[in-house]
Amino acid sequence: MISPFQTIPMRVNGQQREVTAPPMKRLLDVLREDFGLTGTKEGCGEGECGSCSVSMNGQLVNSCLVPLLQADGAEIETVEGLAADNILHPLQQAFLECGGAQCGICTPGMLMAARHLLAHNPNPTLEEIREALAGNLCRCTGFIRIFESVLVAATLREPSDHAR
Ligand code: FES
Ligand code: FES
Repeated sequence: MISPFQTIPMRVNGQQREVTAPPMKRLLDVLREDFGLTGTKEGCGEGECGSCSVSMNGQLVNSCLVPLLQADGAEIETVEGLAADNILHPLQQAFLECGGAQCGICTPGMLMAARHLLAHNPNPTLEEIREALAGNLCRCTGFIRIFESVLVAATLREPSDHAR
């Protein structure tokens, strides 16, 4: 009998992991249910809000739209991978200090999108930040504090943070 489950390996936040699950299970659910990484949030579940954003092979993806099958052998980074040795990532620090997070539902996705931006553009303008975060919706902050957080994070970062 053909099993409806498949064993899929991937690297998550630098650790080799594997999961045995239906190949069409959403990456979002695998992260949360199978790997216990509940930092990644579900908002719309339809690819519209960006709350579930994670990095997959260096690309920002909506994990609610990614079937497990596509993550076979992938390098995944989630919000849990941002802080190192209990030290907040400069983006997390800036969101904390600037009020960029309120209810927190959008925050993990915002952080991952902002990190993706800063990895490619360490000193973005306000307009570039606005554009980079256009796929991430927030119902609480009115966005300005989030944009300010990213601007502040860009100044907090050391050159060695650019890979983070
Ligand atoms: S939950 Fe994935 S984009 Fe909204
Ligand atoms: S902080 Fe609540 S949705 Fe953004």
